Amino acid sequence: MFDYTDYAASAMYIGEKIGEKPDAAVILGSGLGEYAKHFPQAVTIAYEEIPHFPKGTNQSHAYQMHFVKLGGKKVLLLSGRYHYYEGFSMEQVAYPTRVLHLLGVDKLVVTNAAGGINGSFQPGDFMLITDHVKFFTESPARGKNIEELGPRFFDMSHAYDPTLMEIARKVAGECGVMLREGVYGFMSGPQFETPAEIRALRTLGCDAVGMSTVPEVIAAAHCGMKVLGISCISNLAAGMLAQPITDEEVVEITSRRAGVFQKLLSAILEKL
Ligand code: HPA
Repeated sequence: MFDYTDYAASAMYIGEKIGEKPDAAVILGSGLGEYAKHFPQAVTIAYEEIPHFPKGTNQSHAYQMHFVKLGGKKVLLLSGRYHYYEGFSMEQVAYPTRVLHLLGVDKLVVTNAAGGINGSFQPGDFMLITDHVKFFTESPARGKNIEELGPRFFDMSHAYDPTLMEIARKVAGECGVMLREGVYGFMSGPQFETPAEIRALRTLGCDAVGMSTVPEVIAAAHCGMKVLGISCISNLAAGMLAQPITDEEVVEITSRRAGVFQKLLSAILEKL
């Protein structure tokens, strides 16, 4: 369990390095790890330097944050996220989000790769996350409430901010990028789902499925941050095609779509 002084120590360390309050932060999902390379002037901080930041386990993640300027906006890019399936608690997965709040960040963009459940989605599509479903894993806000972060009970009706969604729709239109919309179903992984689980999620109203993002979004709602979520549909979910789902396929599609995703993300960040 973390306490307020842990979050505050992390925020203090980062705040001293960057020297300014960011206008927004982005948690970069699979396939977007390279995004930060567009900003050679960035101030880069390795997660391992930051007090209390958990140690990541994924070889392909950089575990760095980059403070960048983009079209007049100051943005903190988080390259490397923690997942529940790695063995972290939900509280650990959400740790950076709460630190962002203490840094004064009030707009958070979360991105990920997700399996498409909605029959009209194709691999390579982008989906604006309008809401989510999470049933079987505990909340990152479980346990003693930290009043400095937010209230014991909190609303999730606008966890994905309507104003930010509207900006994303408009910007996607201007960039000529088709933006689908839908509900993201959180599954704890690391196994991909069974076809029966996917049928159940579809019945429950999910359009896509993934193993990330939701812990951060719950922590963001707890501390009153506005969230924008975008998924890259990397595959059709289990049972929708005859062939098995592989991580290689997920990586291949997200890498192929990274250029367009980056263009869309930059255009959105400039307008936030
Ligand atoms: N299921 C869960 N997580 C995922 C998937 C999927 O099909 N694709 C990418 N992340």
